[in-house]
Amino acid sequence: MYIDHPPMTALPDTTTKAAPEAPLPHIAFIGGGNMASAIIGGLVKQGVAPEALTVVEPFEASRDALRAQFKVGAIAKADKSLEGADLVVWAVKPQNLREAAGQAGPFCKDALHLSVAAGIRSDSLAQWLETQRIVRAMPNTPALVGLGQTGLFARAGVTENDKAWVEWLVASTGQFLWVDEEAQLDAVTAVSGSGPAYVFYFIEAMEKAAIDMGMSPEHAKQLAIGTFVGASQLAQSAQEPVSVLRDRVTSKGGTTHAAITAMQSADLGALFQDAIRAAQARAQVLGDEFGKND
Ligand SMILES: NC(=O)c1ccc[n+]([C@@H]2O[C@H](COP(=O)([O-])OP(=O)(O)OC[C@H]3O[C@@H](n4cnc5c(N)ncnc54)[C@H](OP(=O)(O)O)[C@@H]3O)[C@@H](O)[C@H]2O)c1
Repeated sequence: MYIDHPPMTALPDTTTKAAPEAPLPHIAFIGGGNMASAIIGGLVKQGVAPEALTVVEPFEASRDALRAQFKVGAIAKADKSLEGADLVVWAVKPQNLREAAGQAGPFCKDALHLSVAAGIRSDSLAQWLETQRIVRAMPNTPALVGLGQTGLFARAGVTENDKAWVEWLVASTGQFLWVDEEAQLDAVTAVSGSGPAYVFYFIEAMEKAAIDMGMSPEHAKQLAIGTFVGASQLAQSAQEPVSVLRDRVTSKGGTTHAAITAMQSADLGALFQDAIRAAQARAQVLGDEFGKND
């Protein structure tokens, strides 16, 4: 059920990403899993009234959890109540999106659509939802703690006002950027979408090394994670490029130099770049597969 609201075009541009002063749009989430919960959590934390949000989620336990945690309305399947939605967030698994679009799409033809589904191209979405008012997003899991990175691509049917609303919504989960070409979302997927797993992989390796050297698992975990957090914050606050920061802690003949030399002789940097390109290539293939019409 939705409360009364003015049309979105009457709302102000929100380049500050703060919650706009005008009444908020009504937002429907199709799929109430991890990504939807991250966004809903961010919005509720910003003071968005739970009555402005509705989630379509087939799994009863997930509906109960959403109601308990965020006080939002949760329904088992799409119905006429979605007709009041100004903004629809598609947050189902890519393989479920076409079916979900067939179920919920007819109720929200006039809405602005934001898809967070990995790999589903906006051409397919436009066809399934019969609208050009579509933004595709590629978020990542640190959105769950408000530190996400999201790449955004808008189809030509998306207005500047629409974009401002998308920015406001996505900013509740962290930082974002717009790409001009949809294909660049495959690079976003490869760098930041899959990126948390790369970081976890390196943290695991650091923890193992520390334990091998006789440290307790607790100490190993603290040092490994804390070093990533600390170095990342230092890199973010510094004016210099990270290569300069690295040089500063790598005195010739010292301990860091020994480690970096070992990594360079194994060409770890090139290997890592190849791995990221493999993720980009996979994103392209998945996009082709999900877009098939059979
Ligand atoms: N998590 C990430 O790190 C991440 C990052 C970038 C992009 N994404 C994208 O975000 C999307 C959602 O991911 P997620 O991790 O949030 O997935 P998730 O936790 O599995 O959530 C998807 C939810 O959608 C529900 N659902 C399935 N079919 C539906 C339908 N027809 N109508 C309404 N709801 C339906 C599922 O219910 P059932 O469990 O009952 O099937 C599930 O609760 C995916 O497309 C993914 O590619 C995720």
